[in-house]
Amino acid sequence: MRAMKKIVILISGRGSNMQAIVRAAQAEQWPCRIAAVISNRADAEGLRFAAEHGIPTDVVVSKEFPSREVFDAALRTAIDRFSPDLVVLAGFMRILTPPFVEHYSGRLLNIHPSLLPSFPGLATHRQALDAGVKVHGATVHFVTAELDHGPIVAQAAVPVLPDDDEHTLADRVLVQEHILYPRAVRWFVEDRLKIENGLVRVLDDRAQAANT
Ligand code: GRF
Repeated sequence: MRAMKKIVILISGRGSNMQAIVRAAQAEQWPCRIAAVISNRADAEGLRFAAEHGIPTDVVVSKEFPSREVFDAALRTAIDRFSPDLVVLAGFMRILTPPFVEHYSGRLLNIHPSLLPSFPGLATHRQALDAGVKVHGATVHFVTAELDHGPIVAQAAVPVLPDDDEHTLADRVLVQEHILYPRAVRWFVEDRLKIENGLVRVLDDRAQAANT
């Protein structure tokens, strides 16, 4: 029997991706435990959902720290109390310092609402509309020191429709995020992700894109 993996999820707000992961883990009985949900904002809505589901929560308020380095050190202490096998960034709106990222190398996942390497950074739906792309989407990737880069685990494509604005497009991408992220985390839990030469191989899986 494989050991039960422990997952810590970091959020900054609504936490709908976190909720999708928690629900899927419960419904599909993944061999893992969501050990904690940690936020950098005390008012993050997702904290309530976590508490209601019996998941320990913690808050490390980023704006109370004098620098990124000091905040990241405090965050790391808060996370490592739970000895996680995997740390999941789910709408965690902070740029992390290289030592933090290095500490969780190979066990830190993020979801970004674009088809990377297109449109890193903020306002991805605006960027997609301005570029006139006809296909947009979301990417789950391992986190490396370079923002919104890192080995790609899975992607979901979403059509851009003629009348889309940022909100309609974001809503359509979010529906796919809620399918994609739980799937990717499950693969990690099942030891099916291998990073080779900076690329991810998903063991025993033919479809690497969610909607192909
Ligand atoms: C998602 O679109 C995620 O991809 C992005 O921020 C949003 C967070 O939403 N990084 P939620 O907090 O998971 O509801």
